[in-house]
Amino acid sequence: MSLTFGGVAALLDVDLHVAEGEIRAVIGPNGAGKSSLLNIVSGLYRPDQGEVWFGDRSFREVPTSKLATHGVARTFQNLALFKGLSVFDNVLMGLAHRVRAGLLRQIVGSPLARRIEAENRAAAEEVISFLHLSEVQDRMVGTLPYGLQKRVELARALVVRPKLLLLDEPFAGVTVTEKQELSQHVRNARDSFGATIVLIEHDIGVVMELSDRVAVLDYGRKIADGTPDQVRADPAVIDAYLGVAHEDDTELAI
Ligand SMILES: Nc1ncnc2c1ncn2[C@@H]1O[C@H](COP(=O)(O)OP(=O)(O)OP(=O)(O)O)[C@@H](O)[C@H]1O
Ligand SMILES: [Mg+2]
Repeated sequence: MSLTFGGVAALLDVDLHVAEGEIRAVIGPNGAGKSSLLNIVSGLYRPDQGEVWFGDRSFREVPTSKLATHGVARTFQNLALFKGLSVFDNVLMGLAHRVRAGLLRQIVGSPLARRIEAENRAAAEEVISFLHLSEVQDRMVGTLPYGLQKRVELARALVVRPKLLLLDEPFAGVTVTEKQELSQHVRNARDSFGATIVLIEHDIGVVMELSDRVAVLDYGRKIADGTPDQVRADPAVIDAYLGVAHEDDTELAI
């Protein structure tokens, strides 16, 4: 697929195949087109050319309102949480799509409404406990350390039990310890929740450890794609940035 903004090509003929059950990393320097790619898959941008396939269904423009129906959830590069609400309520928000507003007005106070509410709360509690957030579930999100806020965003995405989970820099700006914890949670999201994961991340060490396959973007083009070992050894990748004045390739920030 391709995408341009006022003559600037954000993506040029980029193809990304994601196999069910894998953790698929997308890496590349700033401005390479990584977020644009996720934005197309989650329906925020419409490609100039190309389409998105979920299983056997293809879309020119992914309908954002139907993302949850297609089993797709995402997190954002910049946190998109309600800072003044509790952790629990933020996670619950992930399920807001389940009942249409019109229907909700009609059934409010009814046994059906109470049952949906109870199911949603149970689902939120489950994912909160899964991500070890129970202790802080009543805290206002804005008062939590950044790493925990990132984990809340992961919880809000996971609560819909997505088949495909899109994570745009889930570890950006967190401490080393938080990063290790979060990456374990991402792995668990795949192993225990069965989510297929597309992960954008700058920390090569984390990417190599966590992902099954890595695609490398540079100036809107895909310059490499393969297992972490293949990508690490790819001359085009080394040229693009791996070779740049960094010795320690386990903590290399691209
Ligand atoms: N909404 C937009 N309007 C105009 N230009 C955009 C828009 N979104 C992205 N771009 C441009 O498209 C290119 C790719 O941006 P994108 O955000 O996808 O990069 P990225 O790989 O996610 O970078 P980063 O690592 O900094 O997050 C950049 O040149 C960017 O300026
Ligand atoms: Mg980005």
